[in-house]
Amino acid sequence: MRVIGIETSCDETGVAVYDDKLGLLSHVLYSQVKLHADYGGVVPELASRDHVRKIVPLIKQALSEANSSLNDIDGVAYTKGPGLIGALLVGACVGRSLAYAWNKPAIGVHHMEGHLLAPMLEENAPEFPFLALLVSGGHSMLVQVEGIGRYQVLGESVDDAAGEAFDKTAKLMGLDYPGGPRLAKLAQKGVPAGYKFPRPMTDRPGLDFSFSGLKTFTANTIAAEPNDDQTRANIARAFEEAVVDTLAIKCKRALKQTGYTRLVIAGGVSANTRLRESLAEMMTKLGGQVYYPRGEFCTDNGAMIAYAGLQRLRAGHIEGLEVKGQPRWPL
Ligand code: KG4
Ligand code: ZN
Repeated sequence: MRVIGIETSCDETGVAVYDDKLGLLSHVLYSQVKLHADYGGVVPELASRDHVRKIVPLIKQALSEANSSLNDIDGVAYTKGPGLIGALLVGACVGRSLAYAWNKPAIGVHHMEGHLLAPMLEENAPEFPFLALLVSGGHSMLVQVEGIGRYQVLGESVDDAAGEAFDKTAKLMGLDYPGGPRLAKLAQKGVPAGYKFPRPMTDRPGLDFSFSGLKTFTANTIAAEPNDDQTRANIARAFEEAVVDTLAIKCKRALKQTGYTRLVIAGGVSANTRLRESLAEMMTKLGGQVYYPRGEFCTDNGAMIAYAGLQRLRAGHIEGLEVKGQPRWPL
């Protein structure tokens, strides 16, 4: 079985071909980062227009690199939601129409299910069941994963997502978009400087997160401290450590609650080195194992959509004829 996957939920156009026997046959990605940089964030209308420009050439390229023609394709998967509605509709229109023209099933994939299953693309893929920490620009959640489609959200952010907190805090520090990776880079130069940043919502039971207070705490710290490079790096480090610690505390709690020994981290923030190291160390201490996708599959990509689409197709979850995007869609 072979599926082409299309991702257009935000500012990356991704297309990939996945085969259940041969694995990932191709994946191509176009990032709009430069287009949005001047605006300090994603401009939805510009994102949609750029997806329109790039999607068909990328589909052709992905098929050609996979040595695939439409005859070899068993289904067309696309991100149906959640995300920016205009951007989603580009992938949905093209994906649904191609499936119709090729007389193949169309599969509408949940973007976060794509992230959640991204570690399955790696050689050392986790077995079910596992706990998943999904941390992206739009979502932060802890999910109990029993199998494909058997997901229970144990906790999520009550305000900003982890990636959003990174991006907004980076902006406060005068860093360019996309702020998350830039803040992480700055934090590498930081030293422990004695700042006592809060670990929000860790002093009470439960698995929800809150990150907006951390952003305000950082803003106040920046205002109170001298504005030199080393101080900024130290503050970036303190912020990053606070986010990582908070995530680690909640993961530990969720592992205890579920009795699981496997932890998956996925979504853009899972590319963060300090987070990976901290969770790896924690899992070693707990006698479990941590899994994450390779760097390029932490952030948005077509490969995770092709993979999730194939699993959904196998389970018979296919779309009707309507073209539909779902900007809000619980997992
Ligand atoms: O999963 P993703 O590509 O898009 C969404 O589905 O939202 O995640 C993007 C988010 C952004 O907020 C970005 O700043 C963050 O992931 N991010 C990072 C790092 N790399 C990407 N945050 C912290 N450290 C990183 N190294
Ligand atoms: Zn994403």
